Amino acid sequence: MVDRFGRVAHDLRVSLTDRCNLRCEYCMPPEGFDWLPTPQVLTDDEVIRLITVAVEHLGIREVRFTGGEPLLRKGLERIVAATSALRTDQGLVPETSLTTNGLGLAHRAHALAEAGLSRVNVSLDSLDRQTYATLARRDRLPDVLAGIAAADEAGLRPVKINAVLMRGLNEHHAPDLLAFALERGYELRFIEQMPLGPPEMWHRGDMVTAAEILELLRARFTLLPRDVASRGAAPAELYDVAAADGLPAGTVGIIASVTQPFCGACDRTRLTADGQVRTCLFSRSETDLRGLLRGGADDAELAAVWRTAMWGKLAGHGIDDPGFLQPQRPMSAIGG
Ligand code: GTP
Ligand code: 5AD
Ligand code: SF4
Repeated sequence: MVDRFGRVAHDLRVSLTDRCNLRCEYCMPPEGFDWLPTPQVLTDDEVIRLITVAVEHLGIREVRFTGGEPLLRKGLERIVAATSALRTDQGLVPETSLTTNGLGLAHRAHALAEAGLSRVNVSLDSLDRQTYATLARRDRLPDVLAGIAAADEAGLRPVKINAVLMRGLNEHHAPDLLAFALERGYELRFIEQMPLGPPEMWHRGDMVTAAEILELLRARFTLLPRDVASRGAAPAELYDVAAADGLPAGTVGIIASVTQPFCGACDRTRLTADGQVRTCLFSRSETDLRGLLRGGADDAELAAVWRTAMWGKLAGHGIDDPGFLQPQRPMSAIGG
């Protein structure tokens, strides 16, 4: 699946639900959003059908399950198993991964690994229980830590940790997060906050930038940038961290989507929980596959519509353009 700028989509990100059991400040208002009505949400079989089309007809090699919170989806293990039973255009098992807040992961990590899940990325914005509870608006830090440990034990490696820093809330917790990750061999990445949460929530001048994150970390650690050539389509810029303070050496990533966009190397296509193709996190239009699917379209028709949608993918997110408008769907309904 190629777009008019020559980018080829190999990575499919599937949002399995727009619901979540946390209310992270940068993501949702305290009352949540108006959730998608259940009849509009794809069934497990419909999700599996569309993933099959993407892998067998469209060259998808990696499938990431996101939300909202994908662990809220009871059929997740079955969807993962069905995806792992597919073969890519190279005859390989597609790589499957999960982006989760970690709640309930302790109980499901083993079954997910058995189903064929390759690895997990878990959101963790602070190791301080009070700060975590303030930011996520739920006092659930111990459950998240148990989920991360269980994922590691189940072999869902490398375990990646995603942290969003908010000014005045958790930015000074960045070095502690890195110490935690180095000690346990997790890959920590800090993410610049993007304009995808509640409307009016994001202010460019208020965002903790990649440059600031590096400065915060360098107060305690020695960081050396990795060769950019090795980065490929990965969103994170990686730094080697030298051993210090009794902590082993390791790496840390910065996902600078706003100040250093990586749209030129983007290899993603997205499917929302209600069966819409999005070519980008920031798309302002979508292509309906659910209607076609429920209307009896065959695989070739679904593939053709998906391919056409991807051809129209825009060059970049345009956050810095004068007329920039946040997409109508929030991040929780698009998938991280
Ligand atoms: P791996 O490194 O392969 O594990 O995947 P990933 O980093 O894409 O996964 P994850 O879902 O954990 O995404 C991490 C963060 O990258 C997200 O929270 C977003 O902030 C950012 N991100 C993910 N996809 C996109 C995208 O399509 N565009 C932009 N600008 N940012 C993205
Ligand atoms: N900007 C950047 N990252 C975000 N996430 C959620 N909302 C935003 C935002 N507005 C992150 C979560 C999670 C991943 C799916 O996306 O913290 O790690
Ligand atoms: Fe839930 Fe993730 Fe949004 Fe937090 S960032 S409220 S964990 S969807």
